[in-house]
Amino acid sequence: MEPLATNHNGATPGATPIRASSRPTFLMCPPRHYEVNYVINPWMAGNVHRSSRHEATRQWEELARALGEFAQVELVEPQPGSPDMVFTANAGLVRNGIVALSSFQHKERQGEEPHFRRWFSESGFAVRDIPRVTPFEGEGDALFEADGSRLWAGYGLRTREASHKQLTELWGVEVVSLRLVDPRFYHLDTCFCPLSNGDVMYFPGAFDSVSIGKIEMHYAKSKRICVSEEDALLFACNAVNVGKTILLNEVSQELCARLEARGFQIIQLDMTEFLKAGGAAKCLVLRLSN
Ligand code: ARG
Repeated sequence: MEPLATNHNGATPGATPIRASSRPTFLMCPPRHYEVNYVINPWMAGNVHRSSRHEATRQWEELARALGEFAQVELVEPQPGSPDMVFTANAGLVRNGIVALSSFQHKERQGEEPHFRRWFSESGFAVRDIPRVTPFEGEGDALFEADGSRLWAGYGLRTREASHKQLTELWGVEVVSLRLVDPRFYHLDTCFCPLSNGDVMYFPGAFDSVSIGKIEMHYAKSKRICVSEEDALLFACNAVNVGKTILLNEVSQELCARLEARGFQIIQLDMTEFLKAGGAAKCLVLRLSN
């Protein structure tokens, strides 16, 4: 892959402009300041100061390298005092060159907002704000159906449901709101993953019954891949899917076999250092291209 050096706005020097690239493009943030030093989700409890930056760097570089095989990776400069900035999925939600910038629920992460704002505006994106009164945590809580026809949006734990209306207005897309009820699965991308072939991988235990009904209404039974609690706790749903390739933390052989039977190529990566903060592969990347 291209060298992971950054210039002032985090873009790889000499790289193809984001919107002109023919490859899918993702934003990542090097874990130079990554650590667990506060608790805003159940994963972080008991892990304060227990992550290894050395090991986290190795795992992050492995993910960036694997992703770089088939995608363009852009970088945003990490900032001291923002240890969770590495989870770029929470920077905002991007579609058609427009970014709905996140408005974090917890003050611990609000300091990331100006840095992401600067990166997006310097990189040519149209920046739209979501007001503080209706927290919205970006692609962590909002996932487009592979064909872009629908936006699945989580609420109840981090993102406020009222922010979903603004997403509908921004892109003129149908937004299906899903209520998250299990604090271990506090972002939609920890328990729900629309796949490129129109299938969906999800952990039903993370949703209320009305939301399960919505998922079952939109996806035929043959399109639904239900994940066990054990795999869900290994962040199986926190998967990066581009075409036939799926990158994810190490999960059960049984789940890998089910995905492979559907034609996917599975790349398992050790994400344990990031699990300590409540994230894995998908939280570490933000899709910039459609
Ligand atoms: N410690 C971070 C938080 O609690 C982890 C974010 C994980 N990101 C995600 N898209 N699920 O906000």
